[in-house]
This record gives sequence, C-alpha cells and structure tokens, in this order.
Amino acid sequence: MNVRKAVFPVAGLGTRFLPATKAQPKEMLPVVDKPLIQYAVEEAYAAGVREMIFVTGRHKRPIEDHFDMTFELEVALEQSGKNDLLDIVRSVKPDDMECVYVRQAQALGLGHAVLCAERLIGNEPFAVLLADDLMVGAPPVLAQMVEQHAEWRASILAVQEVPADQTRRYGIVDGQRVGERLMDVSRIVEKPAPEAAPSRWGVAGRYILTPGVFHEIAHQPRGVGGEIQLTDGIAALLRREKVFAYRYQGRRYDCGSKEGFLQANVELALAHGTLGAGFRAYLKSLEL
Ligand code: UTP
Repeated sequence: MNVRKAVFPVAGLGTRFLPATKAQPKEMLPVVDKPLIQYAVEEAYAAGVREMIFVTGRHKRPIEDHFDMTFELEVALEQSGKNDLLDIVRSVKPDDMECVYVRQAQALGLGHAVLCAERLIGNEPFAVLLADDLMVGAPPVLAQMVEQHAEWRASILAVQEVPADQTRRYGIVDGQRVGERLMDVSRIVEKPAPEAAPSRWGVAGRYILTPGVFHEIAHQPRGVGGEIQLTDGIAALLRREKVFAYRYQGRRYDCGSKEGFLQANVELALAHGTLGAGFRAYLKSLEL
C-alpha cells in the first residue's frame, strides 16, 4: 500500500530553543518566511501524502490556525487585489489535503507521540516527519524514501553520514550494506560514543514505518530520560520485520538547535528567489 498518511509530532517541550519556545511550539519558528512545520508538510505532500496527522501538546493553537482557513485575511487580500499574497495564503493547505489533530497530554517521548496516532493510522504504512529537521533535497527527502518503500515494502529510516565526533547525538544503525545508499538494518545503537558506534550512519528525522511498530512501542519500558523512545520501538520491530536505512540525498538543518536554525535561515535566504540576491549583497557588505 502507498504511504497516504504522515504523523508530525509537535508536542515536544523544545527546551533547547528557550525562550522562543516558551509559548509556541518550535515547529512554528519561521525559516525565512515559512514556519518549520510548513516545510515538512510540503515535503510530505510532494511525496504523495494527503492526510497530515499532527500530534500536538499544550500549545496546539498556532499550528491549527496556520493550516486553517483565514477568512478575514483572504477577504482583505482579495478586496485589495493582492492576488499573489492570496495565492501564498491559500497554498498553505491545498483542497485535497486533510489535517487531523490528536493530543499528547504529556510529553512522554517521541515513541509515545507516534503511538498517539495509532487509531488514526490504522493498519497501513505511514511516514513520520520531525519538522525541526528541515530537509532540502531534490527530489524531496520523503519522496526518495517513498520510492524505496515502494520497492522494498518495509520500514525505511532516513540516515546521513555523521562526523565521527558526533555519533553521541544520533541513533546509529548497524547491518548489511545492500547498496550504495541502503542498509538492511540489524540493530540501532542510541547515541553511542564514537568508539562504540557500529557505523557512521545516523538516523535523521524522517521515517516510513509499518503499523507493526505500534505494538512494539506499546510494549517498551521507558528508555533514556524516562521517555518512551521511538528508537526502542524500531529496535524491537527489526527483530520481526525487515527495516532498511536509506542514506538520503540532500541537506539537513537541525532547527531544534539555535546554530542549525541560524544556518538554515542564512542558506535558505541566499537561495530564495526574490530575497537571495539582495541578502547576498548585504552579507558581503558586512565586514566579518
Ligand atoms: P526532541 O528530542 O527534539 O525534543 O523531539 P523536544 O522536547 O522537542 O526538544 P528539546 O530537546 O527539549 O529542545 C523530537 C521531536 O519529537 C517531538 C518534538 O516535538 C520533536 O518534533 N516530541 C518529543 C513530541 O511530540 N512529544 C514528546 O513527548 C517528545
């Protein structure tokens, strides 16, 4: 079955980005002119997904409002003939896209957040996108993964090659290489020291998972930090089913960290159709 549904866990506390995330989810932070969550939703849409499931926490309103119709704004733009802006506003939620919201009452971890979407997903493969990992790829990273899923009919984890001194920040996969970009995963080691890391392939915030993962997550004890970890659920899943790691083509910005967020803003501003040239000239004028 094709990947028709995507889960966006947006209920984290975002402590690395305080105080900006005190009263709004980090997924609403804008990179250049769009909130992070919109980049992720656009990526899912481009991969053929039409049902977007947001797992929200205490500040859910800004995300719901963003994907809702803004009647007064649209009327005002229409009346003043600002059709280009009207198109931008309307394109946030295409007519054939459905948005559904489910609440994670307590931030008990990413695995728990994904489990909150179980009833909405049912018995079919689905994508998980962590919007604070902003991905730039052509074709978009999730579309590359959907293609892999269509071929292998198994769970696909997005991975990237990470520098040896950064293995402690990632889940690192181990297994049999079955192609230049593909590994048949036999285990995942969560945040290993460089000398304990079985490879340099670190898991990034994009997954295509089979529904079997729900059963595995539900039976996990609390892992690192007292949280129900998605990685633990996937580690259990791969004892029963094939799971592949796919080294995607593209660039990832860790926008949950202040450094990554700033890099994304600079690089996407430089690449922006209307802002790019002026911004480049401005940067050059700074005596750095
Ligand atoms: P992070 O590990 O980045 O945690 O979550 P966080 O709480 O959002 O941020 P920091 O580390 O405190 O700064 C990865 C993803 O999982 C979601 C987050 O919203 C983010 O997209 N998440 C995490 C949940 O939805 N619920 C949780 O209980 C935990």
